[in-house]
Amino acid sequence: MGARVLLVGAGAREHAIAWKLRQSPDVDAIYVAPGNAGTALVATNVPVSPRDIDGLVNAARELDVDFYLATMDDPQPLGLVDRLRDELDLPCYGPTAAAAEIEASKAWAKRFMEERGIATAPFRVFRDHAAAAAYVSGRAEGPLVVKASGLAAGKGAFVCDDREGALAALHAIMVRRDFGAAGDEVVVEKRLRGREASAHAFCDGQRAVLMPSATDYKRAFDGGRGPNTGGMGAVSPGLGVTPALTAAIEREVVEPAVAGMAAAGRPYTGTLFPGLMIAPDETVRVLEFNARFGDPEAQALMARLDSDLFAVCRAAAEGRLDDADVDWSEEHTVGVVVASGGYPGAYATGHRIEGLDDVDPDALVFHAGTKEADGGVVTNGGRVLTVVARAPTLAQARQRAYANARRIRFRGAFMRTDIARETGDTA
Ligand code: AMP
Ligand code: GLY
Repeated sequence: MGARVLLVGAGAREHAIAWKLRQSPDVDAIYVAPGNAGTALVATNVPVSPRDIDGLVNAARELDVDFYLATMDDPQPLGLVDRLRDELDLPCYGPTAAAAEIEASKAWAKRFMEERGIATAPFRVFRDHAAAAAYVSGRAEGPLVVKASGLAAGKGAFVCDDREGALAALHAIMVRRDFGAAGDEVVVEKRLRGREASAHAFCDGQRAVLMPSATDYKRAFDGGRGPNTGGMGAVSPGLGVTPALTAAIEREVVEPAVAGMAAAGRPYTGTLFPGLMIAPDETVRVLEFNARFGDPEAQALMARLDSDLFAVCRAAAEGRLDDADVDWSEEHTVGVVVASGGYPGAYATGHRIEGLDDVDPDALVFHAGTKEADGGVVTNGGRVLTVVARAPTLAQARQRAYANARRIRFRGAFMRTDIARETGDTA
């Protein structure tokens, strides 16, 4: 009897991970809560929301789930892993609430990095608006980043050009309370320059195995213009992430983080995803730690993973990552996000998606904001799909990803046209 695996989320990341798990001979059933029209093709959707921890625990019990694989941020800080372990004795590939604090509290994560000597932007933490405003006002000019410390659906970081911008961000977070309790604490830090890269590692509490690098394109429009989004495209390997940089990321970031979490009594099991800034002098600094897979990075990574994802995650959950084979294709992957017009601001939903059957058999279409309706598939979110292609060269992968993405049509659809061209967005 194979395993019955639970995933939580409704993104293209969850579709990609469910698609990969489907290839494992040791997986019998995959449940995705709540899922989308794409996960329904490879798994069974379960109508429970990611923040409904009681509902998820009950669903796991009723569906006789025997493995939880954490992909998104929401459930872990609310204690899903702790409860599945304690109440159902379920093996989990994902962090406990204590370990998930590395993402859920930026203030905690910054202090942790300081203690462990992990390079990050110089920072201050404030709980009091007047004190934060006085600090920003009294500081010599220089660009700052102001962040709500808690989870804010990727919208809580303000990259500010000047003092006025930083004061406005503090007002939005601490006075207007745009992010609710996530803004009880703020982190004010120096704005770093360079290019961003995403690192991911499988972790088993004591050890980490680095995945290949990836680059995410965070801005909405070509040329790195427009507002920050959840990510408009991804490539793997990451752009300009040399073997020397990879070694530095492993030695200076991932290994001290995993050792530090264990030493802090919060051993980290699951995927650890440091978001990095690579400075022009090639030094690496951590912008943030994420306690999950990136989206769209996961779509680009899963398409390169040759090994059995379930076997790797099960070994990690059981604290024996050393036993796992983790092999990756040498090929390049490119993922292009097709989004609803208006995203990341307001957008319409319910538009019929055409052309899903016109894509090449070897292109991968991972659904995000989609649902089934009237015998077809309609849009149901901002990021609608990620189209991924894998090929021996970056240029071929890009060409195939775009050729296929352009066959998918819905009213108001847009995508960046420069994913995988030369460089990523720079700050
Ligand atoms: P975070 O929520 O911390 O990941 O920040 C979201 C995004 O804001 C990052 O991916 C960067 O694009 C940008 N950012 C965050 N911190 C900094 C920083 N110190 N300097 C420059 N950009 C930053
Ligand atoms: N693509 C960046 C993230 O998932 O946080």
